[in-house]
Amino acid sequence: MGTQESDEQARGTGRRALLGAAVLGAGGAVLGLSGTARAAGSGYGGGGVKSLPKPTIIGHRGASGYRPEHTLGAYQLALDLGADIVEAGDLVPTKDGHLVCRHEPEIGGTTDIADHPEFAARKTTKLLDGVSVTGWFTEDFTLAELKTLRAIERIPANRPHNTLYNGRWEIPTFEEVLQWQEEQTRERGKQVWIYPELKHPTYFRKLGLGLEERIAKVLRKYGKHKWNSPVIVQSFEPTSIQRLNKLIDNPLVVLLSGASTRPYDFVDSGDPRTVADLVKPAGLREIASYAQGIGPTLDLIIPRDASGKLTTPTTLVADAHKVGLVLHPWTLRNENPFLPADFRKGTDADAYGDVFGAYRTYFATGIDGVFTDQPDTGLLAREDFVNG
Ligand code: G3P
Ligand code: CA
Repeated sequence: MGTQESDEQARGTGRRALLGAAVLGAGGAVLGLSGTARAAGSGYGGGGVKSLPKPTIIGHRGASGYRPEHTLGAYQLALDLGADIVEAGDLVPTKDGHLVCRHEPEIGGTTDIADHPEFAARKTTKLLDGVSVTGWFTEDFTLAELKTLRAIERIPANRPHNTLYNGRWEIPTFEEVLQWQEEQTRERGKQVWIYPELKHPTYFRKLGLGLEERIAKVLRKYGKHKWNSPVIVQSFEPTSIQRLNKLIDNPLVVLLSGASTRPYDFVDSGDPRTVADLVKPAGLREIASYAQGIGPTLDLIIPRDASGKLTTPTTLVADAHKVGLVLHPWTLRNENPFLPADFRKGTDADAYGDVFGAYRTYFATGIDGVFTDQPDTGLLAREDFVNG
């Protein structure tokens, strides 16, 4: 990657150096430096990942605890609440090749498409990464068609208040997100960061809708394809991240699901390794050759027992740091059902548990950041943690 190498030579830095700095940043939190102090100098960007406060608070699908996920309303609120980065968005393609922000290609649960009789005939069943899914899929709709839909709350049982905003926002495109990022950066006088994820890259490549080339093209169009661009790109498929590593210079993160799972690109190519293999030192060393970080499920940091209670932390944080990888696990949510059993309060599905207790426990492991649906809660927890 000539561009990256020449950039790195010019700055006397590089991906590995950035990583080292990021890991040191985590140490900074332990040393009691304030997030603001460590972020100083980030201004309008240029400082790369090392300029982010630690532990970094990432607004998961926006402030999705308070607004329907992956809407400009949810992204805007995440920024207003102070999130360091906004996960804008999970990216899937349209039939005509645009990248749009939805957690899944199936959009029956996150939009009002069921109320559109003109699209009723397009309801179908597909095999998505080996799983049968019924509904409406973004790849069967043009962008113009998707723009006639409106977003709704995905989990109203846990977030009844969010249904107030059903129908308010449309599905954003990734280009709109980049334009919003630029506007917000200008208005706030502070670099806004985003953390897009490529969803189901193998599935879409087989449909002739490769995601990596598409995101690379859009990032290049907006000049946001560089090592110090305020855009971190993530994917659950390691070969997708490897492909991206050849196309763009952005910080890259490999997402890791449960230990017994296999990334779908591995399933497709016959690679027998599971996530349990990838989190071993050799697996982490390999990831560090093409990515800057990992995004593990929180259960890989501290496994839960059969009753849902936390057990003993694994060595993953230390092992990943040893090879220079930052860790941004997912996902902390305030509501009872999403918390380890140790931190639940009562049994109501929409009631908050002792999430501050959960943050304390996870931050103490040395993680570099965390995805959360309620970034304001995460920021208070970081303040408690950093200031002791
Ligand atoms: O991207 C981090 C986390 O979002 C991965 O899980 O399923 O919420 O995209 P998911
Ligand atoms: Ca995601």
